Amino acid sequence: MTNNLEGRDILHGAQFTRSELEQIMALTDDIRRRLEGERSLELLRGYVMGALFFEPSTRTRLSFEAAMHRMGGAVIGFASAGVSSSAKGESLADTIRTVDQYADVIVMRHPEIGSAAAAAEVAEAPIINGGDGAGQHPTQALLDLYTLRAELGGRIDGRTLALVGDLRHGRTVHAGVELYKHYDVELIFVAPEALRMPEEITRRLRQEGRTVTETTDLEVALRGADVVYMTRIQKERFADPAEYARLSGSYVLSRELIERTNPEVTVLHPLPRVDEIDTDVDPLPGAAYFRQAQNGMYVRMALLGLVLGVV
Ligand code: NCD
Repeated sequence: MTNNLEGRDILHGAQFTRSELEQIMALTDDIRRRLEGERSLELLRGYVMGALFFEPSTRTRLSFEAAMHRMGGAVIGFASAGVSSSAKGESLADTIRTVDQYADVIVMRHPEIGSAAAAAEVAEAPIINGGDGAGQHPTQALLDLYTLRAELGGRIDGRTLALVGDLRHGRTVHAGVELYKHYDVELIFVAPEALRMPEEITRRLRQEGRTVTETTDLEVALRGADVVYMTRIQKERFADPAEYARLSGSYVLSRELIERTNPEVTVLHPLPRVDEIDTDVDPLPGAAYFRQAQNGMYVRMALLGLVLGVV
């Protein structure tokens, strides 16, 4: 199969074609199989990944780093803006221009919407957006899609997916809907009025022929869903702490609620969770969020291999 992703920036969920999504998922399966019983695949020996994280991260940064190491490559970077020269007043463009001299691919996370696209304007190396503020988080969407497929026995078409929580600020769901629209899935958006999915996204999905319903009621959505994708209320995006306090705790998925409404439901969450999934949900067979986090490394191995043109 031809590799259209070689040398490409990964900035937005909407950039992928259905066949690219299928290619990434098939390659992820392949890499996962090849890694069984091995410590690493040596496909990226000699390559360097820059990991520039201006915002907190556990899974995205560490799974990208683990992915690079397990492909035989090396990693440079920083895990907080405070230890980079941005703390001295350096512009993002100058930081990117500099790291571009050292790295073959750059993964970045930054609080501003559009920052990854701006970085891609100045970098020679491919830029991978690991989250730009309340904008996009395309690699999370890829691992969410991969997990959905794996958890649903390979068939995404015909399913109903409820996205729950802070749909206004949640970059994982903003990126996710751009991937789900390539499949025959029904979407239910569950959010408090103040945290609804941005209207331009909902309107466009409907114009493109997707079935989207909106509700504030988690219980109603749960009864009709095959998958429930929980998200955290994004505290750091609120200008007013009182508004956050009012909306935090809006939705809590409990074991009792699942057992009463839909015991078979698959539960995803990009993590970190705050209080939106009770820990007694964790042992349920449908609780897939830690498997989802594990899948992140394999999906990112596949993506690095494609972007760097070695697979
Ligand atoms: C998400 C993020 O950073 O957008 N986390 C992640 O990458 N797994 C979700 C979140 O922070 O709520």
